[in-house]
Amino acid sequence: MRNLAVIALAIRIGIALATCTFFQPDEYFQSLEVAHHLVFGYGQLTWEWLTPKPIRSIVYPALNVPIYWILKMLNLDGTAALILFSLTSFFHGLSLSRSISNSVETSLTTMALSYFPWDVSLPRWRALVLIALVGLDSLYYGKLTLTPVNFLLTNASSVSLFYGRSPWHYYLSQALPVLATTALPWVLHGAYLARGSSAPAPLRVLFGLLVWTISVYSLAGHKEWRFLHPLLPSMHVLAAKSFVDSRGAKGGSSSGPLLARRLLITLSVPALIYVTFFHERAQVAVMHHLRHLAPETSRSIGFLMPCHSTPWQAYLHRPDLNNDGVLWALGCEPPLQGQDVTDYQDQTDIFFASPLEYLETRFPDRVNATFPPSFLPRSKPGVDAGGFHPWRHEWPQVLVFFGALLDDPDVRKLLLALGYEEDWKAEYGWEGDSRRRGGVRVWRYLDHI
Ligand SMILES: *[C@@H]1O[C@H](CO)[C@@H](O)[C@H](O)[C@H]1NC(C)=O
Ligand SMILES: *[C@@H]1O[C@H](CO)[C@@H](O)[C@H](O)[C@H]1NC(C)=O
Repeated sequence: MRNLAVIALAIRIGIALATCTFFQPDEYFQSLEVAHHLVFGYGQLTWEWLTPKPIRSIVYPALNVPIYWILKMLNLDGTAALILFSLTSFFHGLSLSRSISNSVETSLTTMALSYFPWDVSLPRWRALVLIALVGLDSLYYGKLTLTPVNFLLTNASSVSLFYGRSPWHYYLSQALPVLATTALPWVLHGAYLARGSSAPAPLRVLFGLLVWTISVYSLAGHKEWRFLHPLLPSMHVLAAKSFVDSRGAKGGSSSGPLLARRLLITLSVPALIYVTFFHERAQVAVMHHLRHLAPETSRSIGFLMPCHSTPWQAYLHRPDLNNDGVLWALGCEPPLQGQDVTDYQDQTDIFFASPLEYLETRFPDRVNATFPPSFLPRSKPGVDAGGFHPWRHEWPQVLVFFGALLDDPDVRKLLLALGYEEDWKAEYGWEGDSRRRGGVRVWRYLDHI
């Protein structure tokens, strides 16, 4: 038993350290970036943190604060940080390799499961911990703040629909197969075994938990499969039950089918290797490239990408770019002021509706080689722009975008005519939605014309 636990832990940590790909903006912008901002005083806070009724708790990002704080105290946030930074993932490794709050929820659920069935009385120290957590949020925001309540109010509103609306059966038809992958047959069979009144009580409780949670989540318009991630450990318990039961039934005599079934389970390993090392790797790699550019050759950097397509200062860590005017990306503020979700367009939408028109009307005709800061490259997160789209840019020394942008020959011509040239690119195939294809490109202004 103990050996198994050590092997499992080693594999988790190995995956965490090896992960060099991008999965979801929240793994940076709702965790590492916030911790970096807290410790170093710069970085980008998204609207979730800046709106008058903030919806995120500082508790989760705070887990990352110690490592950034140690780096700061030891003055190690320079070159040595490169090594040490990859070690920050060690903390996430312990909590399921990605710095996304769902992963901690998942880990906490697993821990809770290991105490299952529970004693429902709440000892005083746990109640105190709960109060302390609320206190921590209020301290961070500087006013009494109940992030879970704000989260619920904001998410129950139409704001979350801005992030997409899915059909009622999404969790059954898509999330479940994606989460369970090759374990799905055993999860379903395990659920089947657990549903009857003759099943052991703990299993029935787990089954009830799955049914209840999936039903309630299915009522929300906005769905993402990672929201079910905390249920995965329970699904695995059911799958294991099914696996062990069916083995028992055959008396363990025929090793053939057993081997076949084990092989089936390991089929997901190649997929794991792909998402750990290759899928959307370029979006992380580009930040390492930009971090090592000399400040004089990258006095300003602009990202013409859908918002939050790459990590930010938590990876870049360039205090010389601590200014929205010299380090900017297109924004994507949700309709927090009650605008109609169906026809609301954010800055990213407006840019991609016609990139050429955006570049011609909101940028100057020529590059100013002193690279002054942009006046208003994006709206302020969480602040009402009053329905105006007031964005004004200066041409930055370095432009970062997905290759798909160059599919428009006029955009390519414009950038070349202005004096930009390709400096770096990383291409990893076909992945992403149409705006994110063609690899990540870095074009730099070369002062030779
Ligand atoms: C709630 O809204 C936030 C907006 O920050 C979104 O990121 C998140 O996915 C939503 N969660 C749910 C469960 O709808
Ligand atoms: C270039 O930017 C500087 C500020 O850095 C400004 O003083 C100057 O007027 C600008 N030049 C042009 C041609 O706009």
